[in-house]
Amino acid sequence: MFLWGTATASYQIEGAVREDGRGPSIWDTFSHEPGRVRDGHTGDVACDHYHRWAEDVALMAGAGLNAYRFSIAWPRVLPSGYGAVNPAGLDFYDRLVDALHERGITPVPTLFHWDLPQALEDEGGWLSRDTAGRFADYAAVVAERLSDRVDMWITLNEPFVHMVFGYGLGMHAPGRTLFLDALPVAHHQLLGHGLAVQALRAAGARQVLVTNNCTPVWPASGSEEDRAAADAYDTLHNRLFNDPVLLGAYPDLSAYGIDGLDVVRPGDLETIAQPLDGLGVNYYNPTRIAGPGADGLPFRDAGITGYPTTAFGWPVVPEGLRELLEGLAARYGEALPPVYVTENGCSYEGIDDQERIAYLDGHIAAAERVEGVDLRGYFVWSLLDNFEWAEGYHQRFGLVHVDFETQRRTPKASYHWLRERIAARS
Ligand code: BGC
Ligand code: BGC
Repeated sequence: MFLWGTATASYQIEGAVREDGRGPSIWDTFSHEPGRVRDGHTGDVACDHYHRWAEDVALMAGAGLNAYRFSIAWPRVLPSGYGAVNPAGLDFYDRLVDALHERGITPVPTLFHWDLPQALEDEGGWLSRDTAGRFADYAAVVAERLSDRVDMWITLNEPFVHMVFGYGLGMHAPGRTLFLDALPVAHHQLLGHGLAVQALRAAGARQVLVTNNCTPVWPASGSEEDRAAADAYDTLHNRLFNDPVLLGAYPDLSAYGIDGLDVVRPGDLETIAQPLDGLGVNYYNPTRIAGPGADGLPFRDAGITGYPTTAFGWPVVPEGLRELLEGLAARYGEALPPVYVTENGCSYEGIDDQERIAYLDGHIAAAERVEGVDLRGYFVWSLLDNFEWAEGYHQRFGLVHVDFETQRRTPKASYHWLRERIAARS
């Protein structure tokens, strides 16, 4: 069965950040720091999904969707990151999973979508190797409760974006600006992934994936310099996270003047390269790269012109999805498991969102033309307009409009269109 779903993330939709024993996360801390998020927005209330989940599940069913990718808030389950379990936190996801099944919707939980318990950040966050083991312990707690009703699990969401925006550039929580010194965050997240796969399987999980943010990288010109820069960027954004998981090896980082990651210990790569049942791929747009960059970086973003853009200013390049997926098949061959597009979508204003329809139609059509990839699912980001990280509530990615004053949900034109599009295919 091909999975047609939407994707969301706990901090972006749940709200209720101090309810039922939830502990603070790094996003609670960060969003309350002045100047971090546009207009001082926070996820304190967000879409109030913690209370309105039943209505939201009904919306999914109304669109004819058969899958739902959501994330579990680690600080709801383990308020201090490890140690005492908060049963009320598990109860919330337990009810949600049951409600999804009642509507014939396959639950696809992601264990980490960036809301790290603050207590773990206080001990070093993903810069600390211990966080990897804590993550596996948390995975085991959740799987023991849910694996009888959850078939498919995703460990991490976009470890690249969490490393670069959270620890490298400081635009996301925890707001560190370590530049390349953030690289241990890649390894510790990947190690956490591998350990979590083992923990999930031990607790009865049947299918396990990881979700990476991937981008086709276009050299700005045919020059030697731009091609080398594009290759260096591809290494950092794509290969650094796909190679260890699929091939059991890190790519060559010499373009960064780095001769191997010194935090890697013997056996780590074997742990990271656990066999997977699928690769989750999030695609938004290609990246055009020139060389060299500033601050000792071997690349710079040259920008893409000549395409329509979303309200976020991101270029709309549907064929990039096909290029990306076929590129993964070319690079990984037999090592590429089935692929799920676990996020694809766009920010636009308005309820009569014809641009979103055009975006989704173009990307779904491009996915349908992909050759040589066992593509098994497509998830729209997102079900609801929600808390778009550093942009607050300004970027609206939902199929369903949310009035954040009243929490009223209004399905957009794209919601109705998607229902027809799915029905026409099956
Ligand atoms: C993230 C989402 C985010 C979306 C749009 C993805 O990188 O996983 O949390 O809302 O992009 O920016
Ligand atoms: C984040 C945005 C960020 C964007 C950059 C998204 O995942 O949510 O805040 O600007 O990535 O690509």
